[in-house]
Formats: sequence, C-alpha cells, structure tokens
Amino acid sequence: MVRFGVLGAGSIAHSFSKAIRATEGILQAIASSSLERAQSFSEEYGFISFYDDYDKLMDDEDVDCIYIATAHAYHYQHMIDTLNHGKHVLCEKSFTLNAKQAEEVFKLARAKGLFVMEAMWTRFLPTIQELIQKVSAGVIGEIKSIESAFGYDISTLTRPRLKDPEQGGGALLDIGIYPITMANLFLGRPKSFKSKVDFFDTGVDSYEEIIYRYENAKAKLIVSFEDNLGSYTWIYGTKGKAFVPVFQAADEAYIYDDTDEIVDTITYGHEENGLEYEIKEAISCIENKQFESKTMPHEETLEILRQMDAIRASWNLVYPGE
Ligand SMILES: NC(=O)c1ccc[n+]([C@@H]2O[C@H](COP(=O)([O-])OP(=O)(O)OC[C@H]3O[C@@H](n4cnc5c(N)ncnc54)[C@H](OP(=O)(O)O)[C@@H]3O)[C@@H](O)[C@H]2O)c1
Repeated sequence: MVRFGVLGAGSIAHSFSKAIRATEGILQAIASSSLERAQSFSEEYGFISFYDDYDKLMDDEDVDCIYIATAHAYHYQHMIDTLNHGKHVLCEKSFTLNAKQAEEVFKLARAKGLFVMEAMWTRFLPTIQELIQKVSAGVIGEIKSIESAFGYDISTLTRPRLKDPEQGGGALLDIGIYPITMANLFLGRPKSFKSKVDFFDTGVDSYEEIIYRYENAKAKLIVSFEDNLGSYTWIYGTKGKAFVPVFQAADEAYIYDDTDEIVDTITYGHEENGLEYEIKEAISCIENKQFESKTMPHEETLEILRQMDAIRASWNLVYPGE
C-alpha cells in the first residue's frame, strides 16, 4: 500500500487524482497554497487530509510518496524538500529545468535510499510499450525517419505558467519533451541536432522545429504553442511504417506494410485517463524497495534533459531559476 500526497492543486493534480482510482494507491493528503482550493480538492476526490502549506504535507507521517504537480521551475526545490523529509517522489515532467538540477535530486535520493521518478506517463502506456517491442522485432524494418508533432494554440487560454519564464514556461519543457521522448524511445540518442525557433515576447519559446540526425536515420520534431497541430507520430521504416495518433496519451497505434495497408492495430483503452500506468509503476517500485524504475530510469531523465539543455543553449534561452 502506498499513500500519496499531492503537492499543488492545479490542472494535472486533478488528472492524477482521478487516475489513482485505477490503482491500489491511497489519496492520503493534498496541499495547496490556498486552503479553500485544498479543501474543495480534498472533498472532490476523497483525500484523508488537506493542507494550505506544502511543508505540512511533507511533515505528514501518513504520506509515503509525494506527487509533485507544480510548474517546472519549482520541481527541483519541491523534490529536494520532499526527499529531506524522508518521502519518495513522483514528479511531473519536465523533471527539472536542467540536467544539473536533476543530478542533484538523484544524488540525494540515492543517499537517502528513496524512490524518485519522472512522471513521463507516455513511456508506461501499453500501446507504446507494445509498439516498441514490435518495431524492435523488425515489423517495419529498419527505422529511417520519425516525424512527431505536438502543438496547440495557447493564445486564448488563461494559463500564465505556459509563457512565464519564472515558472519554466515555453513549449519545449512543456510539450516538446514528448516528441523528444518518442525520438529517444525509437532511435536513441541523436548524433547531432539543428533547430529553428520563435519566441513569445516574454522570452520563452513559442514554436520550434528540431531535426535530430542519427547514423542512418533522422527525426523531425515539431512543437508549437501557436498552432493547433494536435499530436501524432509517424515512424517510417524500410518495410513499412507506424502511426500513433495523440501519441502522448496513446491508446491505439497502426502498423502499415510497404503497400500502405494496415497490417496490425494495437489498442489498449485506458482504465481512467492513462496516468494510471505510471502510478502503478511507482507503487510497484516503492513496494518492492526498488528506488529507480526500469521504464523511466534516472539516466533517461538526465539524457532527455541534457538534450533540452543543448537545444535551449543554442537558442540562448536561460531561465531565471538556473
Ligand atoms: N502528464 C501530463 O499529461 C501533464 C499535463 C499537464 C501538465 N503536466 C505537468 O504538470 C505540471 C503542472 O502543470 P499544470 O498544468 O497542472 O499547472 P497549473 O495548473 O498551473 O498548476 C500548477 C500548480 O503549481 C502550484 N504552484 C506552486 N508554486 C507556484 C507559483 N509560485 N506560482 C504558480 N503556481 C504555483 C499551484 O498550486 P497551488 O496554488 O494549489 O499550491 C498551481 O496550481 C508541469 O510540470 C506540467 O508540465 C503534465
């Protein structure tokens, strides 16, 4: 049994609190900067305790693991504080602003013997897992290219964190991490990259196209906070191709042969909203005293952050919290 505390009562905290119903996890306590929000959140999902102070959540002896659901810029300090209170951590993506911060978090977790994992839910989806197996087995031949896009127009939304440098805003850390994850899952670490970028007047990135080059393949990654591109991934091989609609939340994928006929469909409907798989992984690791997930290892979190660090460095984009 793992009793979760939720830190921050924003948008993704709602999705997490719904998904936990499909797991054996317990919603033990919620903390928000607003007592009113903490109380109404608690009543909506049936938490046992609620707090208007993150420290009180960390002090709660009945909480085993804290799910960090705050904006990117705060993840580092919230994880350090949680680990120093002796609690396991499941932290939203992007795990930290940069790889250096993540290294410090992992070092502290190792020293304390505590579990910590980036909540990159896409990696745990059964559709993605089965597609990885099938593509590795050669069903579409050797991968020659990937095209992965994720974009939506945020201009009409009232979500300040998405454009706010203080909160680690910008498209790359928020949604660019998904196409980058797909490229890494199917092709590994790129040999080189090039990119084009545009910025909001706040200074964070609003649109980018990134080309990853490999020995015998390439990946084109398109990321936008300006356009309603939706999200999709195409994987082109020498003997066929695969298509994953809404890939970050994939519940289906299609495999085509070299005559463009669909030869296989992978389908796994979510029990709740798809976050349940990463939560089940965290529970299993904590119960088995395994302090690192094999599906989302620390080194993978670091590798993706190093790639995003290099991309941001090429744009001269530095966050105030770095
Ligand atoms: N897995 C997914 O599908 C998915 C989807 C969306 C977002 N995310 C990730 O989840 C994280 C949070 O995103 P979100 O969309 O839930 O953000 P959000 O709605 O803005 O919520 C973030 C919460 O952070 C807390 N917070 C702490 N310090 C803050 C500060 N100084 N200023 C503003 N808020 C502060 C606030 O909670 P209180 O005031 O209640 O304490 C706020 O509600 C990000 O890492 C994001 O990338 C993941």
